[in-house]
Amino acid sequence: MLTKITVVGAGNVGATAAQRLAEKELARTVVLVDVIEGVPQGKGLDQWESAPIEGFDTRVVGANDYKPAAGSELVVVTAGIARKPGMSRDDLVRTNADIVKQVSQQIKQHCPNAIVLVVSNPLDVMCWVTKQVTGFPRERVLGMAGVLDTARYRAFLAEALDVSVEDIQAMVLGGHGDTMVPLISYTTMSGIPVTQLLDKTTLDKIVERTRSGGAEIVNYLKTGSAYYAPSAAVVQMVDAIVHDKKRVLPCAAWVQGEYGVSGVYLGVPCKLGRNGLERILELKLSAEEQAALAKSAAAVKETMAVVQL
Ligand code: APR
Repeated sequence: MLTKITVVGAGNVGATAAQRLAEKELARTVVLVDVIEGVPQGKGLDQWESAPIEGFDTRVVGANDYKPAAGSELVVVTAGIARKPGMSRDDLVRTNADIVKQVSQQIKQHCPNAIVLVVSNPLDVMCWVTKQVTGFPRERVLGMAGVLDTARYRAFLAEALDVSVEDIQAMVLGGHGDTMVPLISYTTMSGIPVTQLLDKTTLDKIVERTRSGGAEIVNYLKTGSAYYAPSAAVVQMVDAIVHDKKRVLPCAAWVQGEYGVSGVYLGVPCKLGRNGLERILELKLSAEEQAALAKSAAAVKETMAVVQL
């Protein structure tokens, strides 16, 4: 276990992530930081009080400043606001970029050696803001999107095939949102290509449902967005890093020529170990998948242009 992990943003995703980190004892202390007075303290204390029942020794503490976070080896960033009525997409990008900028300055000052995992949306752009402001190398700034998109895809496939989710292997690359790129040709059920098990119409429907997975939850919840699966996804990345597992997971990483793309955060297969990103794996893609990835990158660059750092 690590000595200290900090989760910035004690909202739905952040607080649930803190709980999962504590229950898995991934750090001795989990610090929850939020700007709302009392909320991180209250949620942190409530979680810590569940420790004797759940049987974990991780101490969860809440704060409105970064002093208790000092020296964290890993920081998860979930701070941000949801789009409000009348707010344009660009306004939301600028607002969340300002929040993530402020958070990144604090991380740089108080946790200079941390690995940072970004969850705040729009994900790929927020990763870039974090990398720019902290000045950390790409090995230490990664984004969570692909693990979540892949989990949704795997859940829908397991349901369609009526088999265990554990037996579905898949990878969703690209941007988080409309431009995600599910790799159907690499999707298997215990090594058997899924294209041999499901017809094209069913597969297309599953891919479409995966693409709008976030919206499906928002439509049910009306206010707020998904948080159980997003928090589980980022904690899987933390687990791979803390235990130096060398897992290959789809993460948003700063590409420098991989897949023919540079200067942008993009969902690509990443080997994660104790130092963060250890390697980006380059797979052979179909011309269609390669084009979809390039389109994803172009969409992220367009959104980056809206932000001034
Ligand atoms: N510093 C710390 N926390 C902040 C800051 C800041 N500068 N600004 C806002 N916050 C906090 C809010 O007070 C709130 O508690 O971030 C939290 C966000 O929580 P929610 O509104 O519940 O949002 P959540 O569902 O957790 O999503 C967080 O993750 O998946 C993404 O799209 C989602 O960008 C969103 C983020």
